[in-house]
This record gives sequence, C-alpha cells and structure tokens, in this order.
Amino acid sequence: MKERNLLLVIFAALVLTIGGYLAATQLHLMPVEASTRAVLVDRLFQLLLGITAFIFLLVEGALLYAALRFRRRPGDESDAVPVHGNNALEILWTLIPTAVVLFVGVYSVQVLQDIERPLGNTMVVEVVGRQFSWEFRYPSADVTTSELHLPVGRPVLFQISSKDVIHSFWVPAFRAKRDATPGQISELRITPSLVGRFPIRCAELCGPGHAGMINEVVVEEEVAFTGWLEAAKAGAKEPAAIMTQFGCVACHTLTAVGSTGQVGPVLDGIGAQAGSRVPGLSAHDYIVQSITDPGAYVVQPFVDGLMPRDFKIRLSDEQLQILVEFLLGQ
Ligand code: CUA
Repeated sequence: MKERNLLLVIFAALVLTIGGYLAATQLHLMPVEASTRAVLVDRLFQLLLGITAFIFLLVEGALLYAALRFRRRPGDESDAVPVHGNNALEILWTLIPTAVVLFVGVYSVQVLQDIERPLGNTMVVEVVGRQFSWEFRYPSADVTTSELHLPVGRPVLFQISSKDVIHSFWVPAFRAKRDATPGQISELRITPSLVGRFPIRCAELCGPGHAGMINEVVVEEEVAFTGWLEAAKAGAKEPAAIMTQFGCVACHTLTAVGSTGQVGPVLDGIGAQAGSRVPGLSAHDYIVQSITDPGAYVVQPFVDGLMPRDFKIRLSDEQLQILVEFLLGQ
C-alpha cells in the first residue's frame, strides 16, 4: 500500500515536470535565439530547470505525503517508532546528488568553454556605457556611433567599459550580459546567427535615466553591414542623427526628433526661451554653454551632474554648430 502511494508521488512529479517543461517551451517565454551561444545556453538552462523541477516536486511530494500519512490522529498519545540509521539509504542519498552535481558541473564547464572560445575572423566592437546611453566603437574602421550593427555569422568580441558608474550590457536574444565597469575592460564573445533587430538593455540600476538606456542591435548581411559602416564613417551631419548618436534623446524631450526623455529639461521651445535664461548671454551662446558646460546654469528643478561634461571634446565643431542652429529653431 505504502509503496503504491510512493510510486504515485513519483508519477505525479514526473507528470508535473513534463507538463511544466512543455508549457515553458511551447509558450515562447524566452526571446528568440539570435546567436550561436543562445542555443547552448538554453539547452543548459532547460536541463538545469528540468532536474531541479523534478527533484523539487519529488521532495515536496514526499514531504506532503509523509505529513498527511503519518499525522497524529485524535486520541493517539503514543510515541513514534524510533529509527536508527539506514546504511543503504544514506549511501544512496549521497551518491545520487554527487553524480547529479558532477554531471551538471562538467557539462556547464564544457558550455562555458564552447561559448568563450576565440574564433577566427573575429571583429572587435568596443561598448561604452555612460549615463544614460550606449556608445559603440569599431576600431578597425575608426567609427563611433550610438547604433550597434553586426554582420550575421561573424564572431564578435565586445570590449565593454563604462565612463561613469556600473552599467550592464545585456542583449537577451544573444543570451549575453556583462557588466560595464569604470576603469576596466570586460570581454564578451558572441556570433550573431539570425538577421533582425534585437533589444539592448542596461541591466544595472545606474541612475534616474537607467530605464532610458534602451537600444537595438541590428544584425544584417555582410554587404548591408559594410554599407552602413561606410555611411557611419562619413559622420552624422543631420541634427536628429547627432542627437541620437550622442544620447541626447535618452534624457530630453524634443517633439521634432520624437524623443520623450525626462531626465533633463524639455527642449521644445528652447529657441524662444534661451535668450532670457542667463542675463547677458545670447540665445546662441546659452545653448552652446548648456551643451559644453552643462553645470554653468542648471534649469530648475533638475540637479547638476546628470549631463555628461565631455560633449565639448566628443562633438566636432561642425556637429556642435549644426546642433545649436537646430535647437535655436525649436
Ligand atoms: Cu545604465 Cu542602468
């Protein structure tokens, strides 16, 4: 009778595990697998999930069964039967977990080695996190941009760092995430395997604009990628492109470029207001000062220190001029 009940518990654990596994895989809870490592990571994750779910249900089921089956009945004042050791059982419950942990450990190390193995023809992309945008550098082409484009099938080595606080570079579809730490370069290897656009997120709370550090990686055919890189090399000359490249849109609302950031002042109508902000400063000079020396005058109720102070170096004179002319017309 007892054996039959135990078999029932094991059977129920199996049914729930398989049912849960099917639900998890058929309901598309995970993003698409857009890199070669995604397949390996998912396989490992599903195996771990399967093993842990089965053990959890088995143990909880046995616990529930024992609690119900051996509970104290009304009027029962007797002691339980004392049990002293059971060598066979103790050897079994030491050997089985040891085997499971060893198997999972060896398999995990294999997956790690597979996904971190350096491959030929690897392209280096430097990823820089800053409050509050991502910047990408292609050292081979001497291109810096706010857009991440990658050719499909080509191995990529990301060299990830930060200009200010700790951010975390995360592309869920690649199953890849690594912290961007100031003063340190962290490496991450992936090979995109699917053409398309996939979300980039910051996975480390880094300040008031954290939620705005969203971006997209564009995975495309080699020809399209090369064309894009050539165009990017020619440099951003359009005001909207400049504002996207330098991350202005993440923090400022400006209807003309479709941005809705709320970390800094709204820029709609800035052309009309700029001349009256600081006595003695023309609208033109005020906008130049606001971009190159953002701490000089801070619009209430915003606080100093949120806007990067290096636009003076990063923007070319031409880009700064284009931006100022554009903002004067807003
Ligand atoms: Cu950067 Cu969160």
